[in-house]
Amino acid sequence: MAAAKRNRETAAGWAYHDGTKHSFRSVRDNVHFLDWPNKPLPFKIYTTLDPIGLPREVPPLGMPALEAISRRAEANSDAIPDLKDLAQILYYSGGITKIKRHPGGEIMFRAAACTGALYEIDSYLVCGDLPDLEAGVYHFGPHDFSLRRLRRGDYRGLVARATAREPSVTRAPVTIICAGTYWRNAWKYQARTYRHFGWDNGTMLANLLATATALNLPARVVMGFVDEDVSRLLGLDTDREAAFSMISVGRTSQPAPDPPAEIGRLAPETEPLSPNEVDYPAMREMHAASSLLDEDEVRRWRGALPERKKPEPQERLIPLKPFGDDEMSSEGLGAVILKRGSTRRFDRGSSLSFERFSTLLYCSMREIPADFLDAGDGAAAAAHLNRLYLIVHAVDGLQSGAYALDRDGRALELIRAGEFRKEAGYLGLEQALPAEAAATIFFIADLNAVFERFGNRGYRAAQIEAGIIGGKMYLAAYAQGLGASGLTFYDDDVIEFFSPDAQGKSAIFQVAVGKSAKRRMEVV
Ligand SMILES: Cc1cc2nc3c(=O)[nH]c(=O)nc-3n(C[C@H](O)[C@H](O)[C@H](O)COP(=O)(O)O)c2cc1C
Repeated sequence: MAAAKRNRETAAGWAYHDGTKHSFRSVRDNVHFLDWPNKPLPFKIYTTLDPIGLPREVPPLGMPALEAISRRAEANSDAIPDLKDLAQILYYSGGITKIKRHPGGEIMFRAAACTGALYEIDSYLVCGDLPDLEAGVYHFGPHDFSLRRLRRGDYRGLVARATAREPSVTRAPVTIICAGTYWRNAWKYQARTYRHFGWDNGTMLANLLATATALNLPARVVMGFVDEDVSRLLGLDTDREAAFSMISVGRTSQPAPDPPAEIGRLAPETEPLSPNEVDYPAMREMHAASSLLDEDEVRRWRGALPERKKPEPQERLIPLKPFGDDEMSSEGLGAVILKRGSTRRFDRGSSLSFERFSTLLYCSMREIPADFLDAGDGAAAAAHLNRLYLIVHAVDGLQSGAYALDRDGRALELIRAGEFRKEAGYLGLEQALPAEAAATIFFIADLNAVFERFGNRGYRAAQIEAGIIGGKMYLAAYAQGLGASGLTFYDDDVIEFFSPDAQGKSAIFQVAVGKSAKRRMEVV
């Protein structure tokens, strides 16, 4: 029997969201503990497929990081990546950039921040013949910096069909598909992991989009596709894994061949992640309820985007003052990604200049090429799904207090003046980071409007958008000698804090920014 279309049954989306909220009570009532001997492997390792090594000697990415996150590459002619370009894209979005050893073993940190350093998102490539890579479907293994071929042949037509012929995918020589493995993150975060898929995939995509821009390759995030067709192509075990996003990379005038009528089942063996896996059905339920079942549903999902609301009246607003091009940090993207990390302690005594803070906000809110934000035809982008609310503790020239960023990302509105370090610490699950940072930034979405427009699938889009902007904030902070950390939060308390402005909306994500305590001591 064919599965029923459920994307419009938004009670399922609300049930997942409400059921995975954190509160003062919920964290105290939760008896979950970290079962260290059962900690999952942070890699998907195919045991029977041969590695195809990626080139390790690649030129550094010299484009200033702030420019790379603020722009998108446009291609009027063919832009075909080669293996060296793909190696850079995969390395700077998901590669191992740092290894830290500790008495119990080692942690391999990656290019983008990830909740709990559990790295549950994998990248796959679907490409036609490239100058130095045969057409096929490949998995990227960061553990040995290699590709493994899952299918030989050109399957781009199948991917294009799964997106209802989304124009950028249809013309792409390569599409990267990201998929999450529930258990790799749920070991620690239980059913909240489905939200983390969006955040952790989003930080990777911030790096990926910036890297593509630095390589002059157009790239575009596509969230609307027929889930089952994509899972089958990648050979995903859908009880354990879920395809979450797609990114078209490059442009070709050679049309993808028609997809084959049938594709064989794929189930290559992989190493077990841990002795036992625990299933959290709420996530599979949310994934099923936000799945699109056929091309027609995808086409309608993408549909016409809502009109951008008129800009708000400027007189109440404090305009941001980002640096001009000649004053901005020119540190290259590659160097910034390599030094990025999550700040473990902020220097409470340091403040940020308004220009640096403005630059961080301004650059992070620019250019997100995505099917849920623009039609890809040069038409004006729709408003972001998330709005930014801030608690500012120490930014020169800005009164301490609660603010909202206007929809264009160009000005701040003071909601409430006051010293809110204690409140910020509480809202961030009682952690010191948001209390000691110079400012902490909350991503808040009107989920009623998101569900109305996009159905349950909009939930995936809202989470990944927050992750992308948050990932850009990491890069904008590190490019300017600052630190940043993603953060979790007490959902309803965040909304209450920013109400009445945020009333009826939902907390999606949080990022704290400021001077890192360690970094300052090193400089002195
Ligand atoms: C979405 C997100 C949420 C995070 N939440 C927290 C948090 O609540 N507390 C914390 O100390 N670190 C948090 N982090 C930081 C991660 O622990 C960190 O990214 C991970 O350990 C990898 O280290 P790295 O970012 O230094 O590479 C978060 C990171 C992300 C991306």
